[in-house]
Amino acid sequence: MGLPAAGATAPESLFERCSWFYALCREYLFRDHTPEITDSLLAPVAPADGTHLIEVGCGPGFYCCKLAQNFPKIPTRGIYVAEGRVRGAGRGAADRRLTNASFVHGDAHHLPLEDNEVDAVVVSRLFLIVVQDRERVIAEIHRVLKGGGRCFIAEPTSGFRTRIPLAVMWVLSKVSRSPAGLYREPRQAEVMPSTEFKKLIRSQPWESIEVTNDGWYQYAVCEKRGSGAGSVPVGAVQSAEGSL
Ligand SMILES: C[S@@+](CC[C@H](N)C(=O)[O-])C[C@H]1O[C@@H](n2cnc3c(N)ncnc32)[C@H](O)[C@@H]1O
Repeated sequence: MGLPAAGATAPESLFERCSWFYALCREYLFRDHTPEITDSLLAPVAPADGTHLIEVGCGPGFYCCKLAQNFPKIPTRGIYVAEGRVRGAGRGAADRRLTNASFVHGDAHHLPLEDNEVDAVVVSRLFLIVVQDRERVIAEIHRVLKGGGRCFIAEPTSGFRTRIPLAVMWVLSKVSRSPAGLYREPRQAEVMPSTEFKKLIRSQPWESIEVTNDGWYQYAVCEKRGSGAGSVPVGAVQSAEGSL
């Protein structure tokens, strides 16, 4: 898929139109990877105060808020593609009285960050259907990480389970129609085959990569070359049947 031509307006996203429904799925239906993220990015030693963590394509800000709550001295920042919804994501953090979680508008293809700026990146359910140029997004993640910084990427592998929320959003969109009547997302979600996932991850010159597949999800933990480089303590990816 190519990026929209300069000046062209992309169709609205179903994730924005049905954001309340997606937030419900995120909170109650999808698997919560906070333990794996914590083990991969913020352990085994306690992260230094001020460790800067971002979530790219944060949607309702689930991980930004959870990690901000669990690590009050770590500033988390959610990168939200829809400018008009940033305040909504921020309200979730405010409702929980989180002063260390913030949200900014930004496109994963052009992250609004300097090179080597962040210590940790969380990416969840982003590559599957929503981004147009996956290689560019992973290159952006690599660019903004500091040497020795790590990213955690989780992608679902169950097509059936992934299609259900998307199908429901399409039905809901009929009730609250976009003025243009168009949405960015496809009708059917195809999961990424593991060969494609690994190829995408390996497109960047990481110091180390650990890829795990537990049947329902594929995960990658990657560490950028540079100071602080070492092996990634993965091993905490567990099966949790009962969640999508
Ligand atoms: C499937 S949701 C995943 C949300 C969240 N990361 C989670 O774990 O539930 C994908 C999110 O990516 C956002 N998104 C789509 N295209 C994007 C882009 N180019 N840059 C940043 N975010 C994007 C969508 O608005 C949506 O909120």
